[in-house]
Amino acid sequence: MIFTRVFVGNMLSRGNRLYCSQRSSGILVKKKEVAGHIKQISEDEPQIPQNPLKAVHTASAQPENGKIYDKKPFRMKFQKGKAYFWCLCGQSKSQPLCDGTHRNPYLNIKFRPIKFMVTEDKEYWLCNCKQTSNRPFCDGTHKREDIQAAIK
Ligand code: FES
Repeated sequence: MIFTRVFVGNMLSRGNRLYCSQRSSGILVKKKEVAGHIKQISEDEPQIPQNPLKAVHTASAQPENGKIYDKKPFRMKFQKGKAYFWCLCGQSKSQPLCDGTHRNPYLNIKFRPIKFMVTEDKEYWLCNCKQTSNRPFCDGTHKREDIQAAIK
């Protein structure tokens, strides 16, 4: 990641380069090149967490997503070093965590919960739409129109 300073003064563009027409103090931002354009990402933008158990827990590789439970994520506090199970089937009564409902033989649920850990003691946004590409954490997929329309 490249860090650069964004100036609040007038910006001039020449080709692929940006110039500041006046000197002023700026804020530090991350700079990423995307298809010839420069995308600026604020330093304050939250980092999407990763599940350290993704590579070792086979349930993480389930290709299908569960039933949409809600159209927004749920924020919960988690402890570093402790294992948790996130509900993928969308049928748990303890959302966003698993309560064992997927084991009920009468429901014939093929999904298994996702075992996960966190790297810091803090609050995390867990996916509640069950459609995230970064299980169990919210990656913004819930903003899709079909997901927003699925829950009234
Ligand atoms: S709640 Fe599922 S991606 Fe945000």
